[in-house]
Amino acid sequence: AYRAEDDYDYLFKVVLIGDSGVGKSNLLSRFTRNEFSLESKSTIGVEFATRSLTVDGKVVKAQIWDTAGQERYRAITSAYYRGAIDPNIVVMLIGNKSDLRHLVAVPTEDGEAYAERESLYFMETSALEATNVENAFAEVLTQIY
Ligand code: GTP
Ligand code: MG
Repeated sequence: AYRAEDDYDYLFKVVLIGDSGVGKSNLLSRFTRNEFSLESKSTIGVEFATRSLTVDGKVVKAQIWDTAGQERYRAITSAYYRGAIDPNIVVMLIGNKSDLRHLVAVPTEDGEAYAERESLYFMETSALEATNVENAFAEVLTQIY
């Protein structure tokens, strides 16, 4: 049977990495299901979800891998991006929880400067407020495309 979700022009793999608690799983749930949880459990190993977007009239399916930030899973999670050294790799640095304005750990200018030095894309997001989540994933997928 025909299923619209199987119909895509490009399939891209996206891997979320970063310290435990920064909000990777909530960025994923916000982007793929428009859901956010204040009491989300720390990820064990690796989880994944997909969502398709249209870029330049083409359907781009993103297969997004959400890795555990906790140190003890490092051996497992690193296996998921070990192969991702293709020269066409796109890396984005995300500063999440931009809604917590009074608790900013890294000033925006510092994030921007670091990203520029390291040739990374940079965006500040809030999974809670759904700020820039769509933009961040769309930017990465458009750049890969
Ligand atoms: P690990 O799975 O352990 O690597 O953590 P994680 O990076 O997946 O973090 P997770 O998405 O589980 O979020 C950790 C906590 O931060 C949860 O209590 C979330 O509700 C909260 N959180 C995530 N994103 C945001 C955000 O944008 N703003 C605020 N205020 N809290 C957030
Ligand atoms: Mg997680």
